[in-house]
Amino acid sequence: MTQIPDVYAEVSGTIETALTLPRRAYLDDAVFDGEKAAIFRREWIVVARVEQLDHTGSFLTVDVADVPLVITRDGEGRFHALSRICRHRAMPVAAGCGTVKAFTCPYHLWRYGLDGRLLSAPAMEKSDVFDVSQLGLQRFRAEVWEGWIFVNLDENAPPLEGHFESLKPYLAADGLAGMKIVHSQSFASPWNWKVFVENFVESYHHAGPHSESLQHSNPAFGTYALDLPEGAPFMVLENPPSEGSDPFSVYAGFPTFLFAVQRGELTTAVWFQMDLIDHSTFNVTIHILMPEPAASDPELVTFMAAVLRQIHLEDMTVCDGVQAGLASPMMVPGPLSHLERGVWQFHRYLQRKMREGANKKI
Ligand code: FES
Ligand SMILES: [Fe+2]
Repeated sequence: MTQIPDVYAEVSGTIETALTLPRRAYLDDAVFDGEKAAIFRREWIVVARVEQLDHTGSFLTVDVADVPLVITRDGEGRFHALSRICRHRAMPVAAGCGTVKAFTCPYHLWRYGLDGRLLSAPAMEKSDVFDVSQLGLQRFRAEVWEGWIFVNLDENAPPLEGHFESLKPYLAADGLAGMKIVHSQSFASPWNWKVFVENFVESYHHAGPHSESLQHSNPAFGTYALDLPEGAPFMVLENPPSEGSDPFSVYAGFPTFLFAVQRGELTTAVWFQMDLIDHSTFNVTIHILMPEPAASDPELVTFMAAVLRQIHLEDMTVCDGVQAGLASPMMVPGPLSHLERGVWQFHRYLQRKMREGANKKI
């Protein structure tokens, strides 16, 4: 059984007594290993939007908690999450993204269908242990929610639909399922993944790095996270506007499904896709989602992309700073503001999942 360092033991039962996490939670490779085992290999992890796989044979590759996957769309419009490791001698059978009729392993040319089934394998007829029906690519669960494709490496996990059931009413009028990605920009992120999630789930910091941007449109001290029932797998952060601006809401489906919805004359969404690499590195891709016909308005898209880039650069300065500050051996946890309820909810989630993980064989 994996030994998970208990860095979440001190997470408070109330926001009033809540502290930040100890530095080891962000710096220790063993903590990240524990999080991969107890969270990323057990929870629903978002990997794509359906419009990124919009025709038969489209595929993209993604790694979830060190498991190399290929996500495919078959002729019936079904999505599959498959291991992309050949069942012969472990060669990856796909890279990047594209369109295929089938996957042919480049090593000895075993061929797999879009649903992972092994279709053919040359010169295996003399093997007594070769069984074509048993040697498909490993399959994992893939389900769609509001236009996003999620995978779950745990075959016993409850269905995705029920998992986010209580989040649905907040998004009922937004039409997220019908939106599509109109712009994407990626950023290398040399921080522990939790530094970014924590920054995402509070708007207390609008007054700091965003003093010339979001603080004018959605001031820090008017923002609040909803007081959701213990155990909710997500948080909701409302950002009321100043006069003449639009409100926006921030949503985090734990652990890393981060998006925001801006509701004005036009409803748009922004999805922050996180691809974790190691305990102090990930990539984030910021996708703008819009409905038609706005999706076809290049000026609007370019404007939004520039605004989001500027805001993200502002966030990068503080994430850089926090990651550097955590390296101090003298760093001690500090108290959270009532405006950081989302951070505390995230920590409660981590504590719960890591405890559950510690009680299971992983
Ligand atoms: S490793 Fe794939 S066919 Fe041999
Ligand atoms: Fe920010």
